Amino acid sequence: MVLFEMRGVVVAALLLLAYPICKIIYNLYFHPLAKVPGPRIWAATRLPYIRALIQGTIVHDFEKLHQVYGPVIRIAPDEVTFAQGEAYNDIFRIRQGHRQFLKDPIWWSRQPGQPNSILSAIEPESHARIRKILAPAFTTRALKAQEPLVQKYVNLLIERMHDKAAEAKNGQNGVEFDIGPWFNFTTFDIFGELGFGESFDCLQNSRYHPWIALLFNSVKAASFISATKFFPLVTFLLMKCIPESLKKMQKDHFQQIVDKVDRRLSWELDRPDFMSHVIKADGGTKMPMGEVYATFMVMTTAGSETTATTLSGTMNHLVAQPDILAKLTEEVRSAFMSESEMNLEALQGLQYLNAVLREGLRLCPPVPWMLPRVVPPGGDTVCGTWLPGGTTVSIQAYTLNRDPSYFHSATTFTPERWLPEASTNPKSPYFRDQRSAVQPFSVGPRECIGQHLAWAELRLILARLVWAFDFEAAGEKKLKWEELRTFLLVEKKPIDVRIKRRSE
Ligand code: HEM
Repeated sequence: MVLFEMRGVVVAALLLLAYPICKIIYNLYFHPLAKVPGPRIWAATRLPYIRALIQGTIVHDFEKLHQVYGPVIRIAPDEVTFAQGEAYNDIFRIRQGHRQFLKDPIWWSRQPGQPNSILSAIEPESHARIRKILAPAFTTRALKAQEPLVQKYVNLLIERMHDKAAEAKNGQNGVEFDIGPWFNFTTFDIFGELGFGESFDCLQNSRYHPWIALLFNSVKAASFISATKFFPLVTFLLMKCIPESLKKMQKDHFQQIVDKVDRRLSWELDRPDFMSHVIKADGGTKMPMGEVYATFMVMTTAGSETTATTLSGTMNHLVAQPDILAKLTEEVRSAFMSESEMNLEALQGLQYLNAVLREGLRLCPPVPWMLPRVVPPGGDTVCGTWLPGGTTVSIQAYTLNRDPSYFHSATTFTPERWLPEASTNPKSPYFRDQRSAVQPFSVGPRECIGQHLAWAELRLILARLVWAFDFEAAGEKKLKWEELRTFLLVEKKPIDVRIKRRSE
């Protein structure tokens, strides 16, 4: 009897061991993706992918893999990633005669019992319903009405920078500090004003609001939770292991947004902000309250952290290349007689300013990795590669934007590639650059809804800064953007600059 039981245990153990081995053999040799190029170890199991995700090195690891294996690589048993411009069209747009590629639930599905947000709604109908309600808040017309609110916080940023510059002691050539947080202060304050009718008071207090201070940790946690979802048993255990204090912190984080939304809804003031488009004439809301809370929660991050990252990356390049900074400064200072003339419409026409920001978005994309979608049932092609239904696909924006077969001097910060001459003069070294491959706001029905606002903030903040101050890199310290880690969003490090009031 004992012998019989022992045999049973041994057989069960062998079966347990045999399963992953058979699965690996299947993944490598018999899986429909077996012929897609890529490293064997990544194709065999999901583990290298998860390791890279948790370490925050995933974007750089993918770049190295693309350099070895080409623009299409299999990065997990059932996942393929692309560093090709046409992939935007094939994955994100709706192609005639094709079914839509929907968001991958591993990354996007909401927690059980939680309401949908504009980002987490996977089904096209529920997403379109939410987007239709919000869209009027993001038109160019709406932005014109919102401009005074945006200007108010940029004025405050400039005031704070004057205070900083005034800290220079006699004989000191300016003041050194990390300008990164100041970009976050400004973009979060602007979102607070436009979203909830009250800023986060970061610029007022010259420090992070506690809600924002907790934010990057919560984005990092979301990235880890997604990693565990690849193994449902682990997700279940992890959820059980989350300490009560952390659960409470998450709840409080959400509750603060709920309170802000409720306060805004209790006002009867007519304001040109986002919420005014969500409120019905009878005072109710055009979508269920749960969706309003969840959507404003995710929009606070999507609408602030991204813009601040672009400004940080661009400023980091500018102080490292004084000739480019000088050209930008010259353009801005000669275009206006006074700061009060610097409005959104006038700034739109500054060619070099636009080129500098486009180059910042190319080399420092705040969404460096376009988050995964799933190939619809029945399969479809992406960039000519046929993929079975259920395959996860994504785009490596960071890698693509730095690909020398797409861009001349691909890793150099050169705004000139975005000037009109680059596309009209065949003698320009940038004539053959494939500029349309840079899509920092994505494309299709889920492209960034806030891109006009993002451009407005980017132009206004950068132009006002270089109009009023002279910037330089601080000492020997130089942040290498290529070394930053990514946890869904880019984990920023100090951008040390030296600032002084403009000299003439
Ligand atoms: C430089 C700044 C920004 C960049 C690079 C950026 C980039 C993106 C990208 C790539 C997506 C698509 C994500 C996906 O489908 O996987 C997206 C979506 C979105 N963005 Fe932005 N964004 C920026 C600023 C903003 C701003 C200022 C707002 C609003 C205040 C905003 C709100 C949103 C929303 C709500 C979505 C979801 C749209 C939908 O699913 O229909 N973003 N953004």
